[in-house]
Amino acid sequence: MAVKTATRLTLARRPRRLRRTETIRSLVRETHLTADCLILPLFIVEGRGIRRDVTSMPGVSQLSVDEAVTEAAGAKRDGVPGVLLFGIPGSKDPSGTLASDPEGAVQNAIRAMKREMPDLIVITDVCLCEYTSHGHCGILDGEEILNDVTVGHLAQVALSHAAAGADFVAPSDMMDGRVAAIRQTLDEGGFERVGIISYAAKYCSAFYGPFRDAADSAPQFGDRRSHQMDPANVSEALREVETDLAEGADIVMVKPALTYLDVISRVKQQFNQPTAAYHVSGEYAMLKAAAANGWIDEPRAMMETLTAIRRAGADIIITYYAREAARRLKSR
Ligand code: PBG
Repeated sequence: MAVKTATRLTLARRPRRLRRTETIRSLVRETHLTADCLILPLFIVEGRGIRRDVTSMPGVSQLSVDEAVTEAAGAKRDGVPGVLLFGIPGSKDPSGTLASDPEGAVQNAIRAMKREMPDLIVITDVCLCEYTSHGHCGILDGEEILNDVTVGHLAQVALSHAAAGADFVAPSDMMDGRVAAIRQTLDEGGFERVGIISYAAKYCSAFYGPFRDAADSAPQFGDRRSHQMDPANVSEALREVETDLAEGADIVMVKPALTYLDVISRVKQQFNQPTAAYHVSGEYAMLKAAAANGWIDEPRAMMETLTAIRRAGADIIITYYAREAARRLKSR
C-alpha cells in the first residue's frame, strides 16, 4: 500500500520534535548520569596477591590489600571518585571481635589507599555480619540480637576505621541508635571531620544473596527480619531517615535501589538531603546473568538502570558497575 504523504494533522503539540536528533535529545535531557556520583564496593581479604572471583557476581573479586589498592587506582583512573570497603576476616567469633582490629584487612586497606591516593573517597561498611561466626549483624542472646550491646561494638568498629583514615563510615546493621552512638564516639575520638553515610532505609531483601557469597556473611540460622525493613513499607522508611538525620547522618541511603525507586524519590523530596542508593549484588547479578545468556544488551541495560536510580533522586549510586559505567561515560 502506498504511503499517503498528503495526510496532515494539525497538532498543537508534537513531542517527537524534541526527539529528532541526539543533540536535540541531549539539549532537553533531564537527568545526567556522571561518573562523579558513582561509588565502587570492594571486598577485602587478608594476605597478598589475592584476587578470588565471586561466582555469582561476574567481574567482582575478593581482593587482598595490595590488589584492592590497584583496583581503587584503576577505578580512580576511570573517573570513579570513591570506594566502599567490606572486610572478610581470616577468622570469626560470636562477637565479631576482628571487626575493630586496627590491623584488620579493611583498616590496612584504608591506610594503603589513603597513602597512595589522598583524594580517593574511602567509605567503610560498618556491620558485624562478616565478622561473626553465626553471620548475624550483632551480638546474640540466644537467637535475639541485643541492640544496645551491638551498638557499642559498632561504634568501636567505626572508630577503628576513622583512626585508619576513612572519610566516611557507613553503618549497615539497622540497629536502633547506632548513628548517634557512632557520631558521639567519633567526636570524642577527635574525628569530627569523619562523616556518616547511614543505610537509613535498608530493606530485608532477597537481592543481597550474591553479596553473602562474596562476603561469606549468610546467617547460620534465621534471617534479618528483626532489624531490616519490611519491603511493604514506605512511611517507616521516612521515619528511619528522619531519625538518622536527627542522630547526625550526613548522607542517607536507600537499599536496594530498583525495587525501591519510590522510596528514593520520597526521601529526596521530603528531606532534600544528600541521598545515596545502593544498586545491590542481586540487581547486578540479574543483569550479568541475562547478558551472559544474550538476553539483554548489557551496556544499555546498565546505563538505563543507573539513569533511573539517578532520576528517582539519588545523588550518589553505589554499584558494582561503577567502573564499567564510568568508562562508558568517558568514551561518549
Ligand atoms: C552488611 C551488608 C549487606 C549488604 C551491604 N552491607 C548484606 C546484608 O545485609 O545481608 C548487601 C550489599 C549487596 O547485596 O550488594 N550487613
